[in-house]
Amino acid sequence: NKLEPLKVMISGAPASGKGTQCQLITQKYGLVHIAAGDLLRAEISSGSENGKRAKEYMEKGQLVPNEIVVMMVKERLSQSDSQENGWLLDGYPRSLSQATALKESGFQPDIFILLEVAEENLVERVVGRRLDPVTGRIYHLQYSPPETEEIAARLTQRFDDTEEKVKLRLQTHHQNVESVLSMYEGIIVKVNGNASKEDVFSQIDNALTNLIGQKNATLGGS
Ligand code: AP5
Repeated sequence: NKLEPLKVMISGAPASGKGTQCQLITQKYGLVHIAAGDLLRAEISSGSENGKRAKEYMEKGQLVPNEIVVMMVKERLSQSDSQENGWLLDGYPRSLSQATALKESGFQPDIFILLEVAEENLVERVVGRRLDPVTGRIYHLQYSPPETEEIAARLTQRFDDTEEKVKLRLQTHHQNVESVLSMYEGIIVKVNGNASKEDVFSQIDNALTNLIGQKNATLGGS
């Protein structure tokens, strides 16, 4: 009787800290991190037609059409590493139709984590965010500054990380979040995302530890 791998969804407004928390969660729990935004940015970098189309929507802060996103995510979830180690899905689903598409393919999470962050913090986080193209690590000029001059010199910024664009991304988020939540009633855990990243992680860590405890208890009892 082996414990089934964890299946986790994480959601929240733009720059609420999803990517940052996913780095901490994967370090401890070994889940496969699947981020819809990262898959789309990889598609843009590949220069494909889908990538070009996706970029037009991302620049406007709108959802990329389902025919591009849905297959991409489902394929990644079906790969053997995700099936064996469990998955951590970040930034998907963002609409009722995306949630329905997953459910119909048999992908149901054990837990849905929602990061709640005050709007004034989101803009600050977006504008100060920087990425290390070598390690993939997420930094912030004030809250998570790079460790060395060498890293500082190579940091990059995302094309949609401006104050103007984050407002559009936020609007899109507000339009869709309630309908997504309605699909996961009963397994939603709301986390206060305004605290330091360590404090936010300890809330998530507690929730995941409890979940594993419950899964173990069910196994033992059967
Ligand atoms: P996506 O890449 O998913 O962007 P997003 O949802 O806007 O989220 P971010 O990646 O901006 O932020 P995050 O929550 O990961 O925050 P982070 O940890 O980096 O999507 C981009 C676009 O792709 C969308 O607009 C859409 O067009 C398209 N797309 C994506 N998914 C789609 C889908 N399913 N369907 C259709 N289209 C889709 O943190 C942000 C900053 O804050 C960092 O600098 C970090 O260091 C700092 N920080 C983090 N935590 C803390 C803390 N606790 N205290 C202080 N600072 C912190």
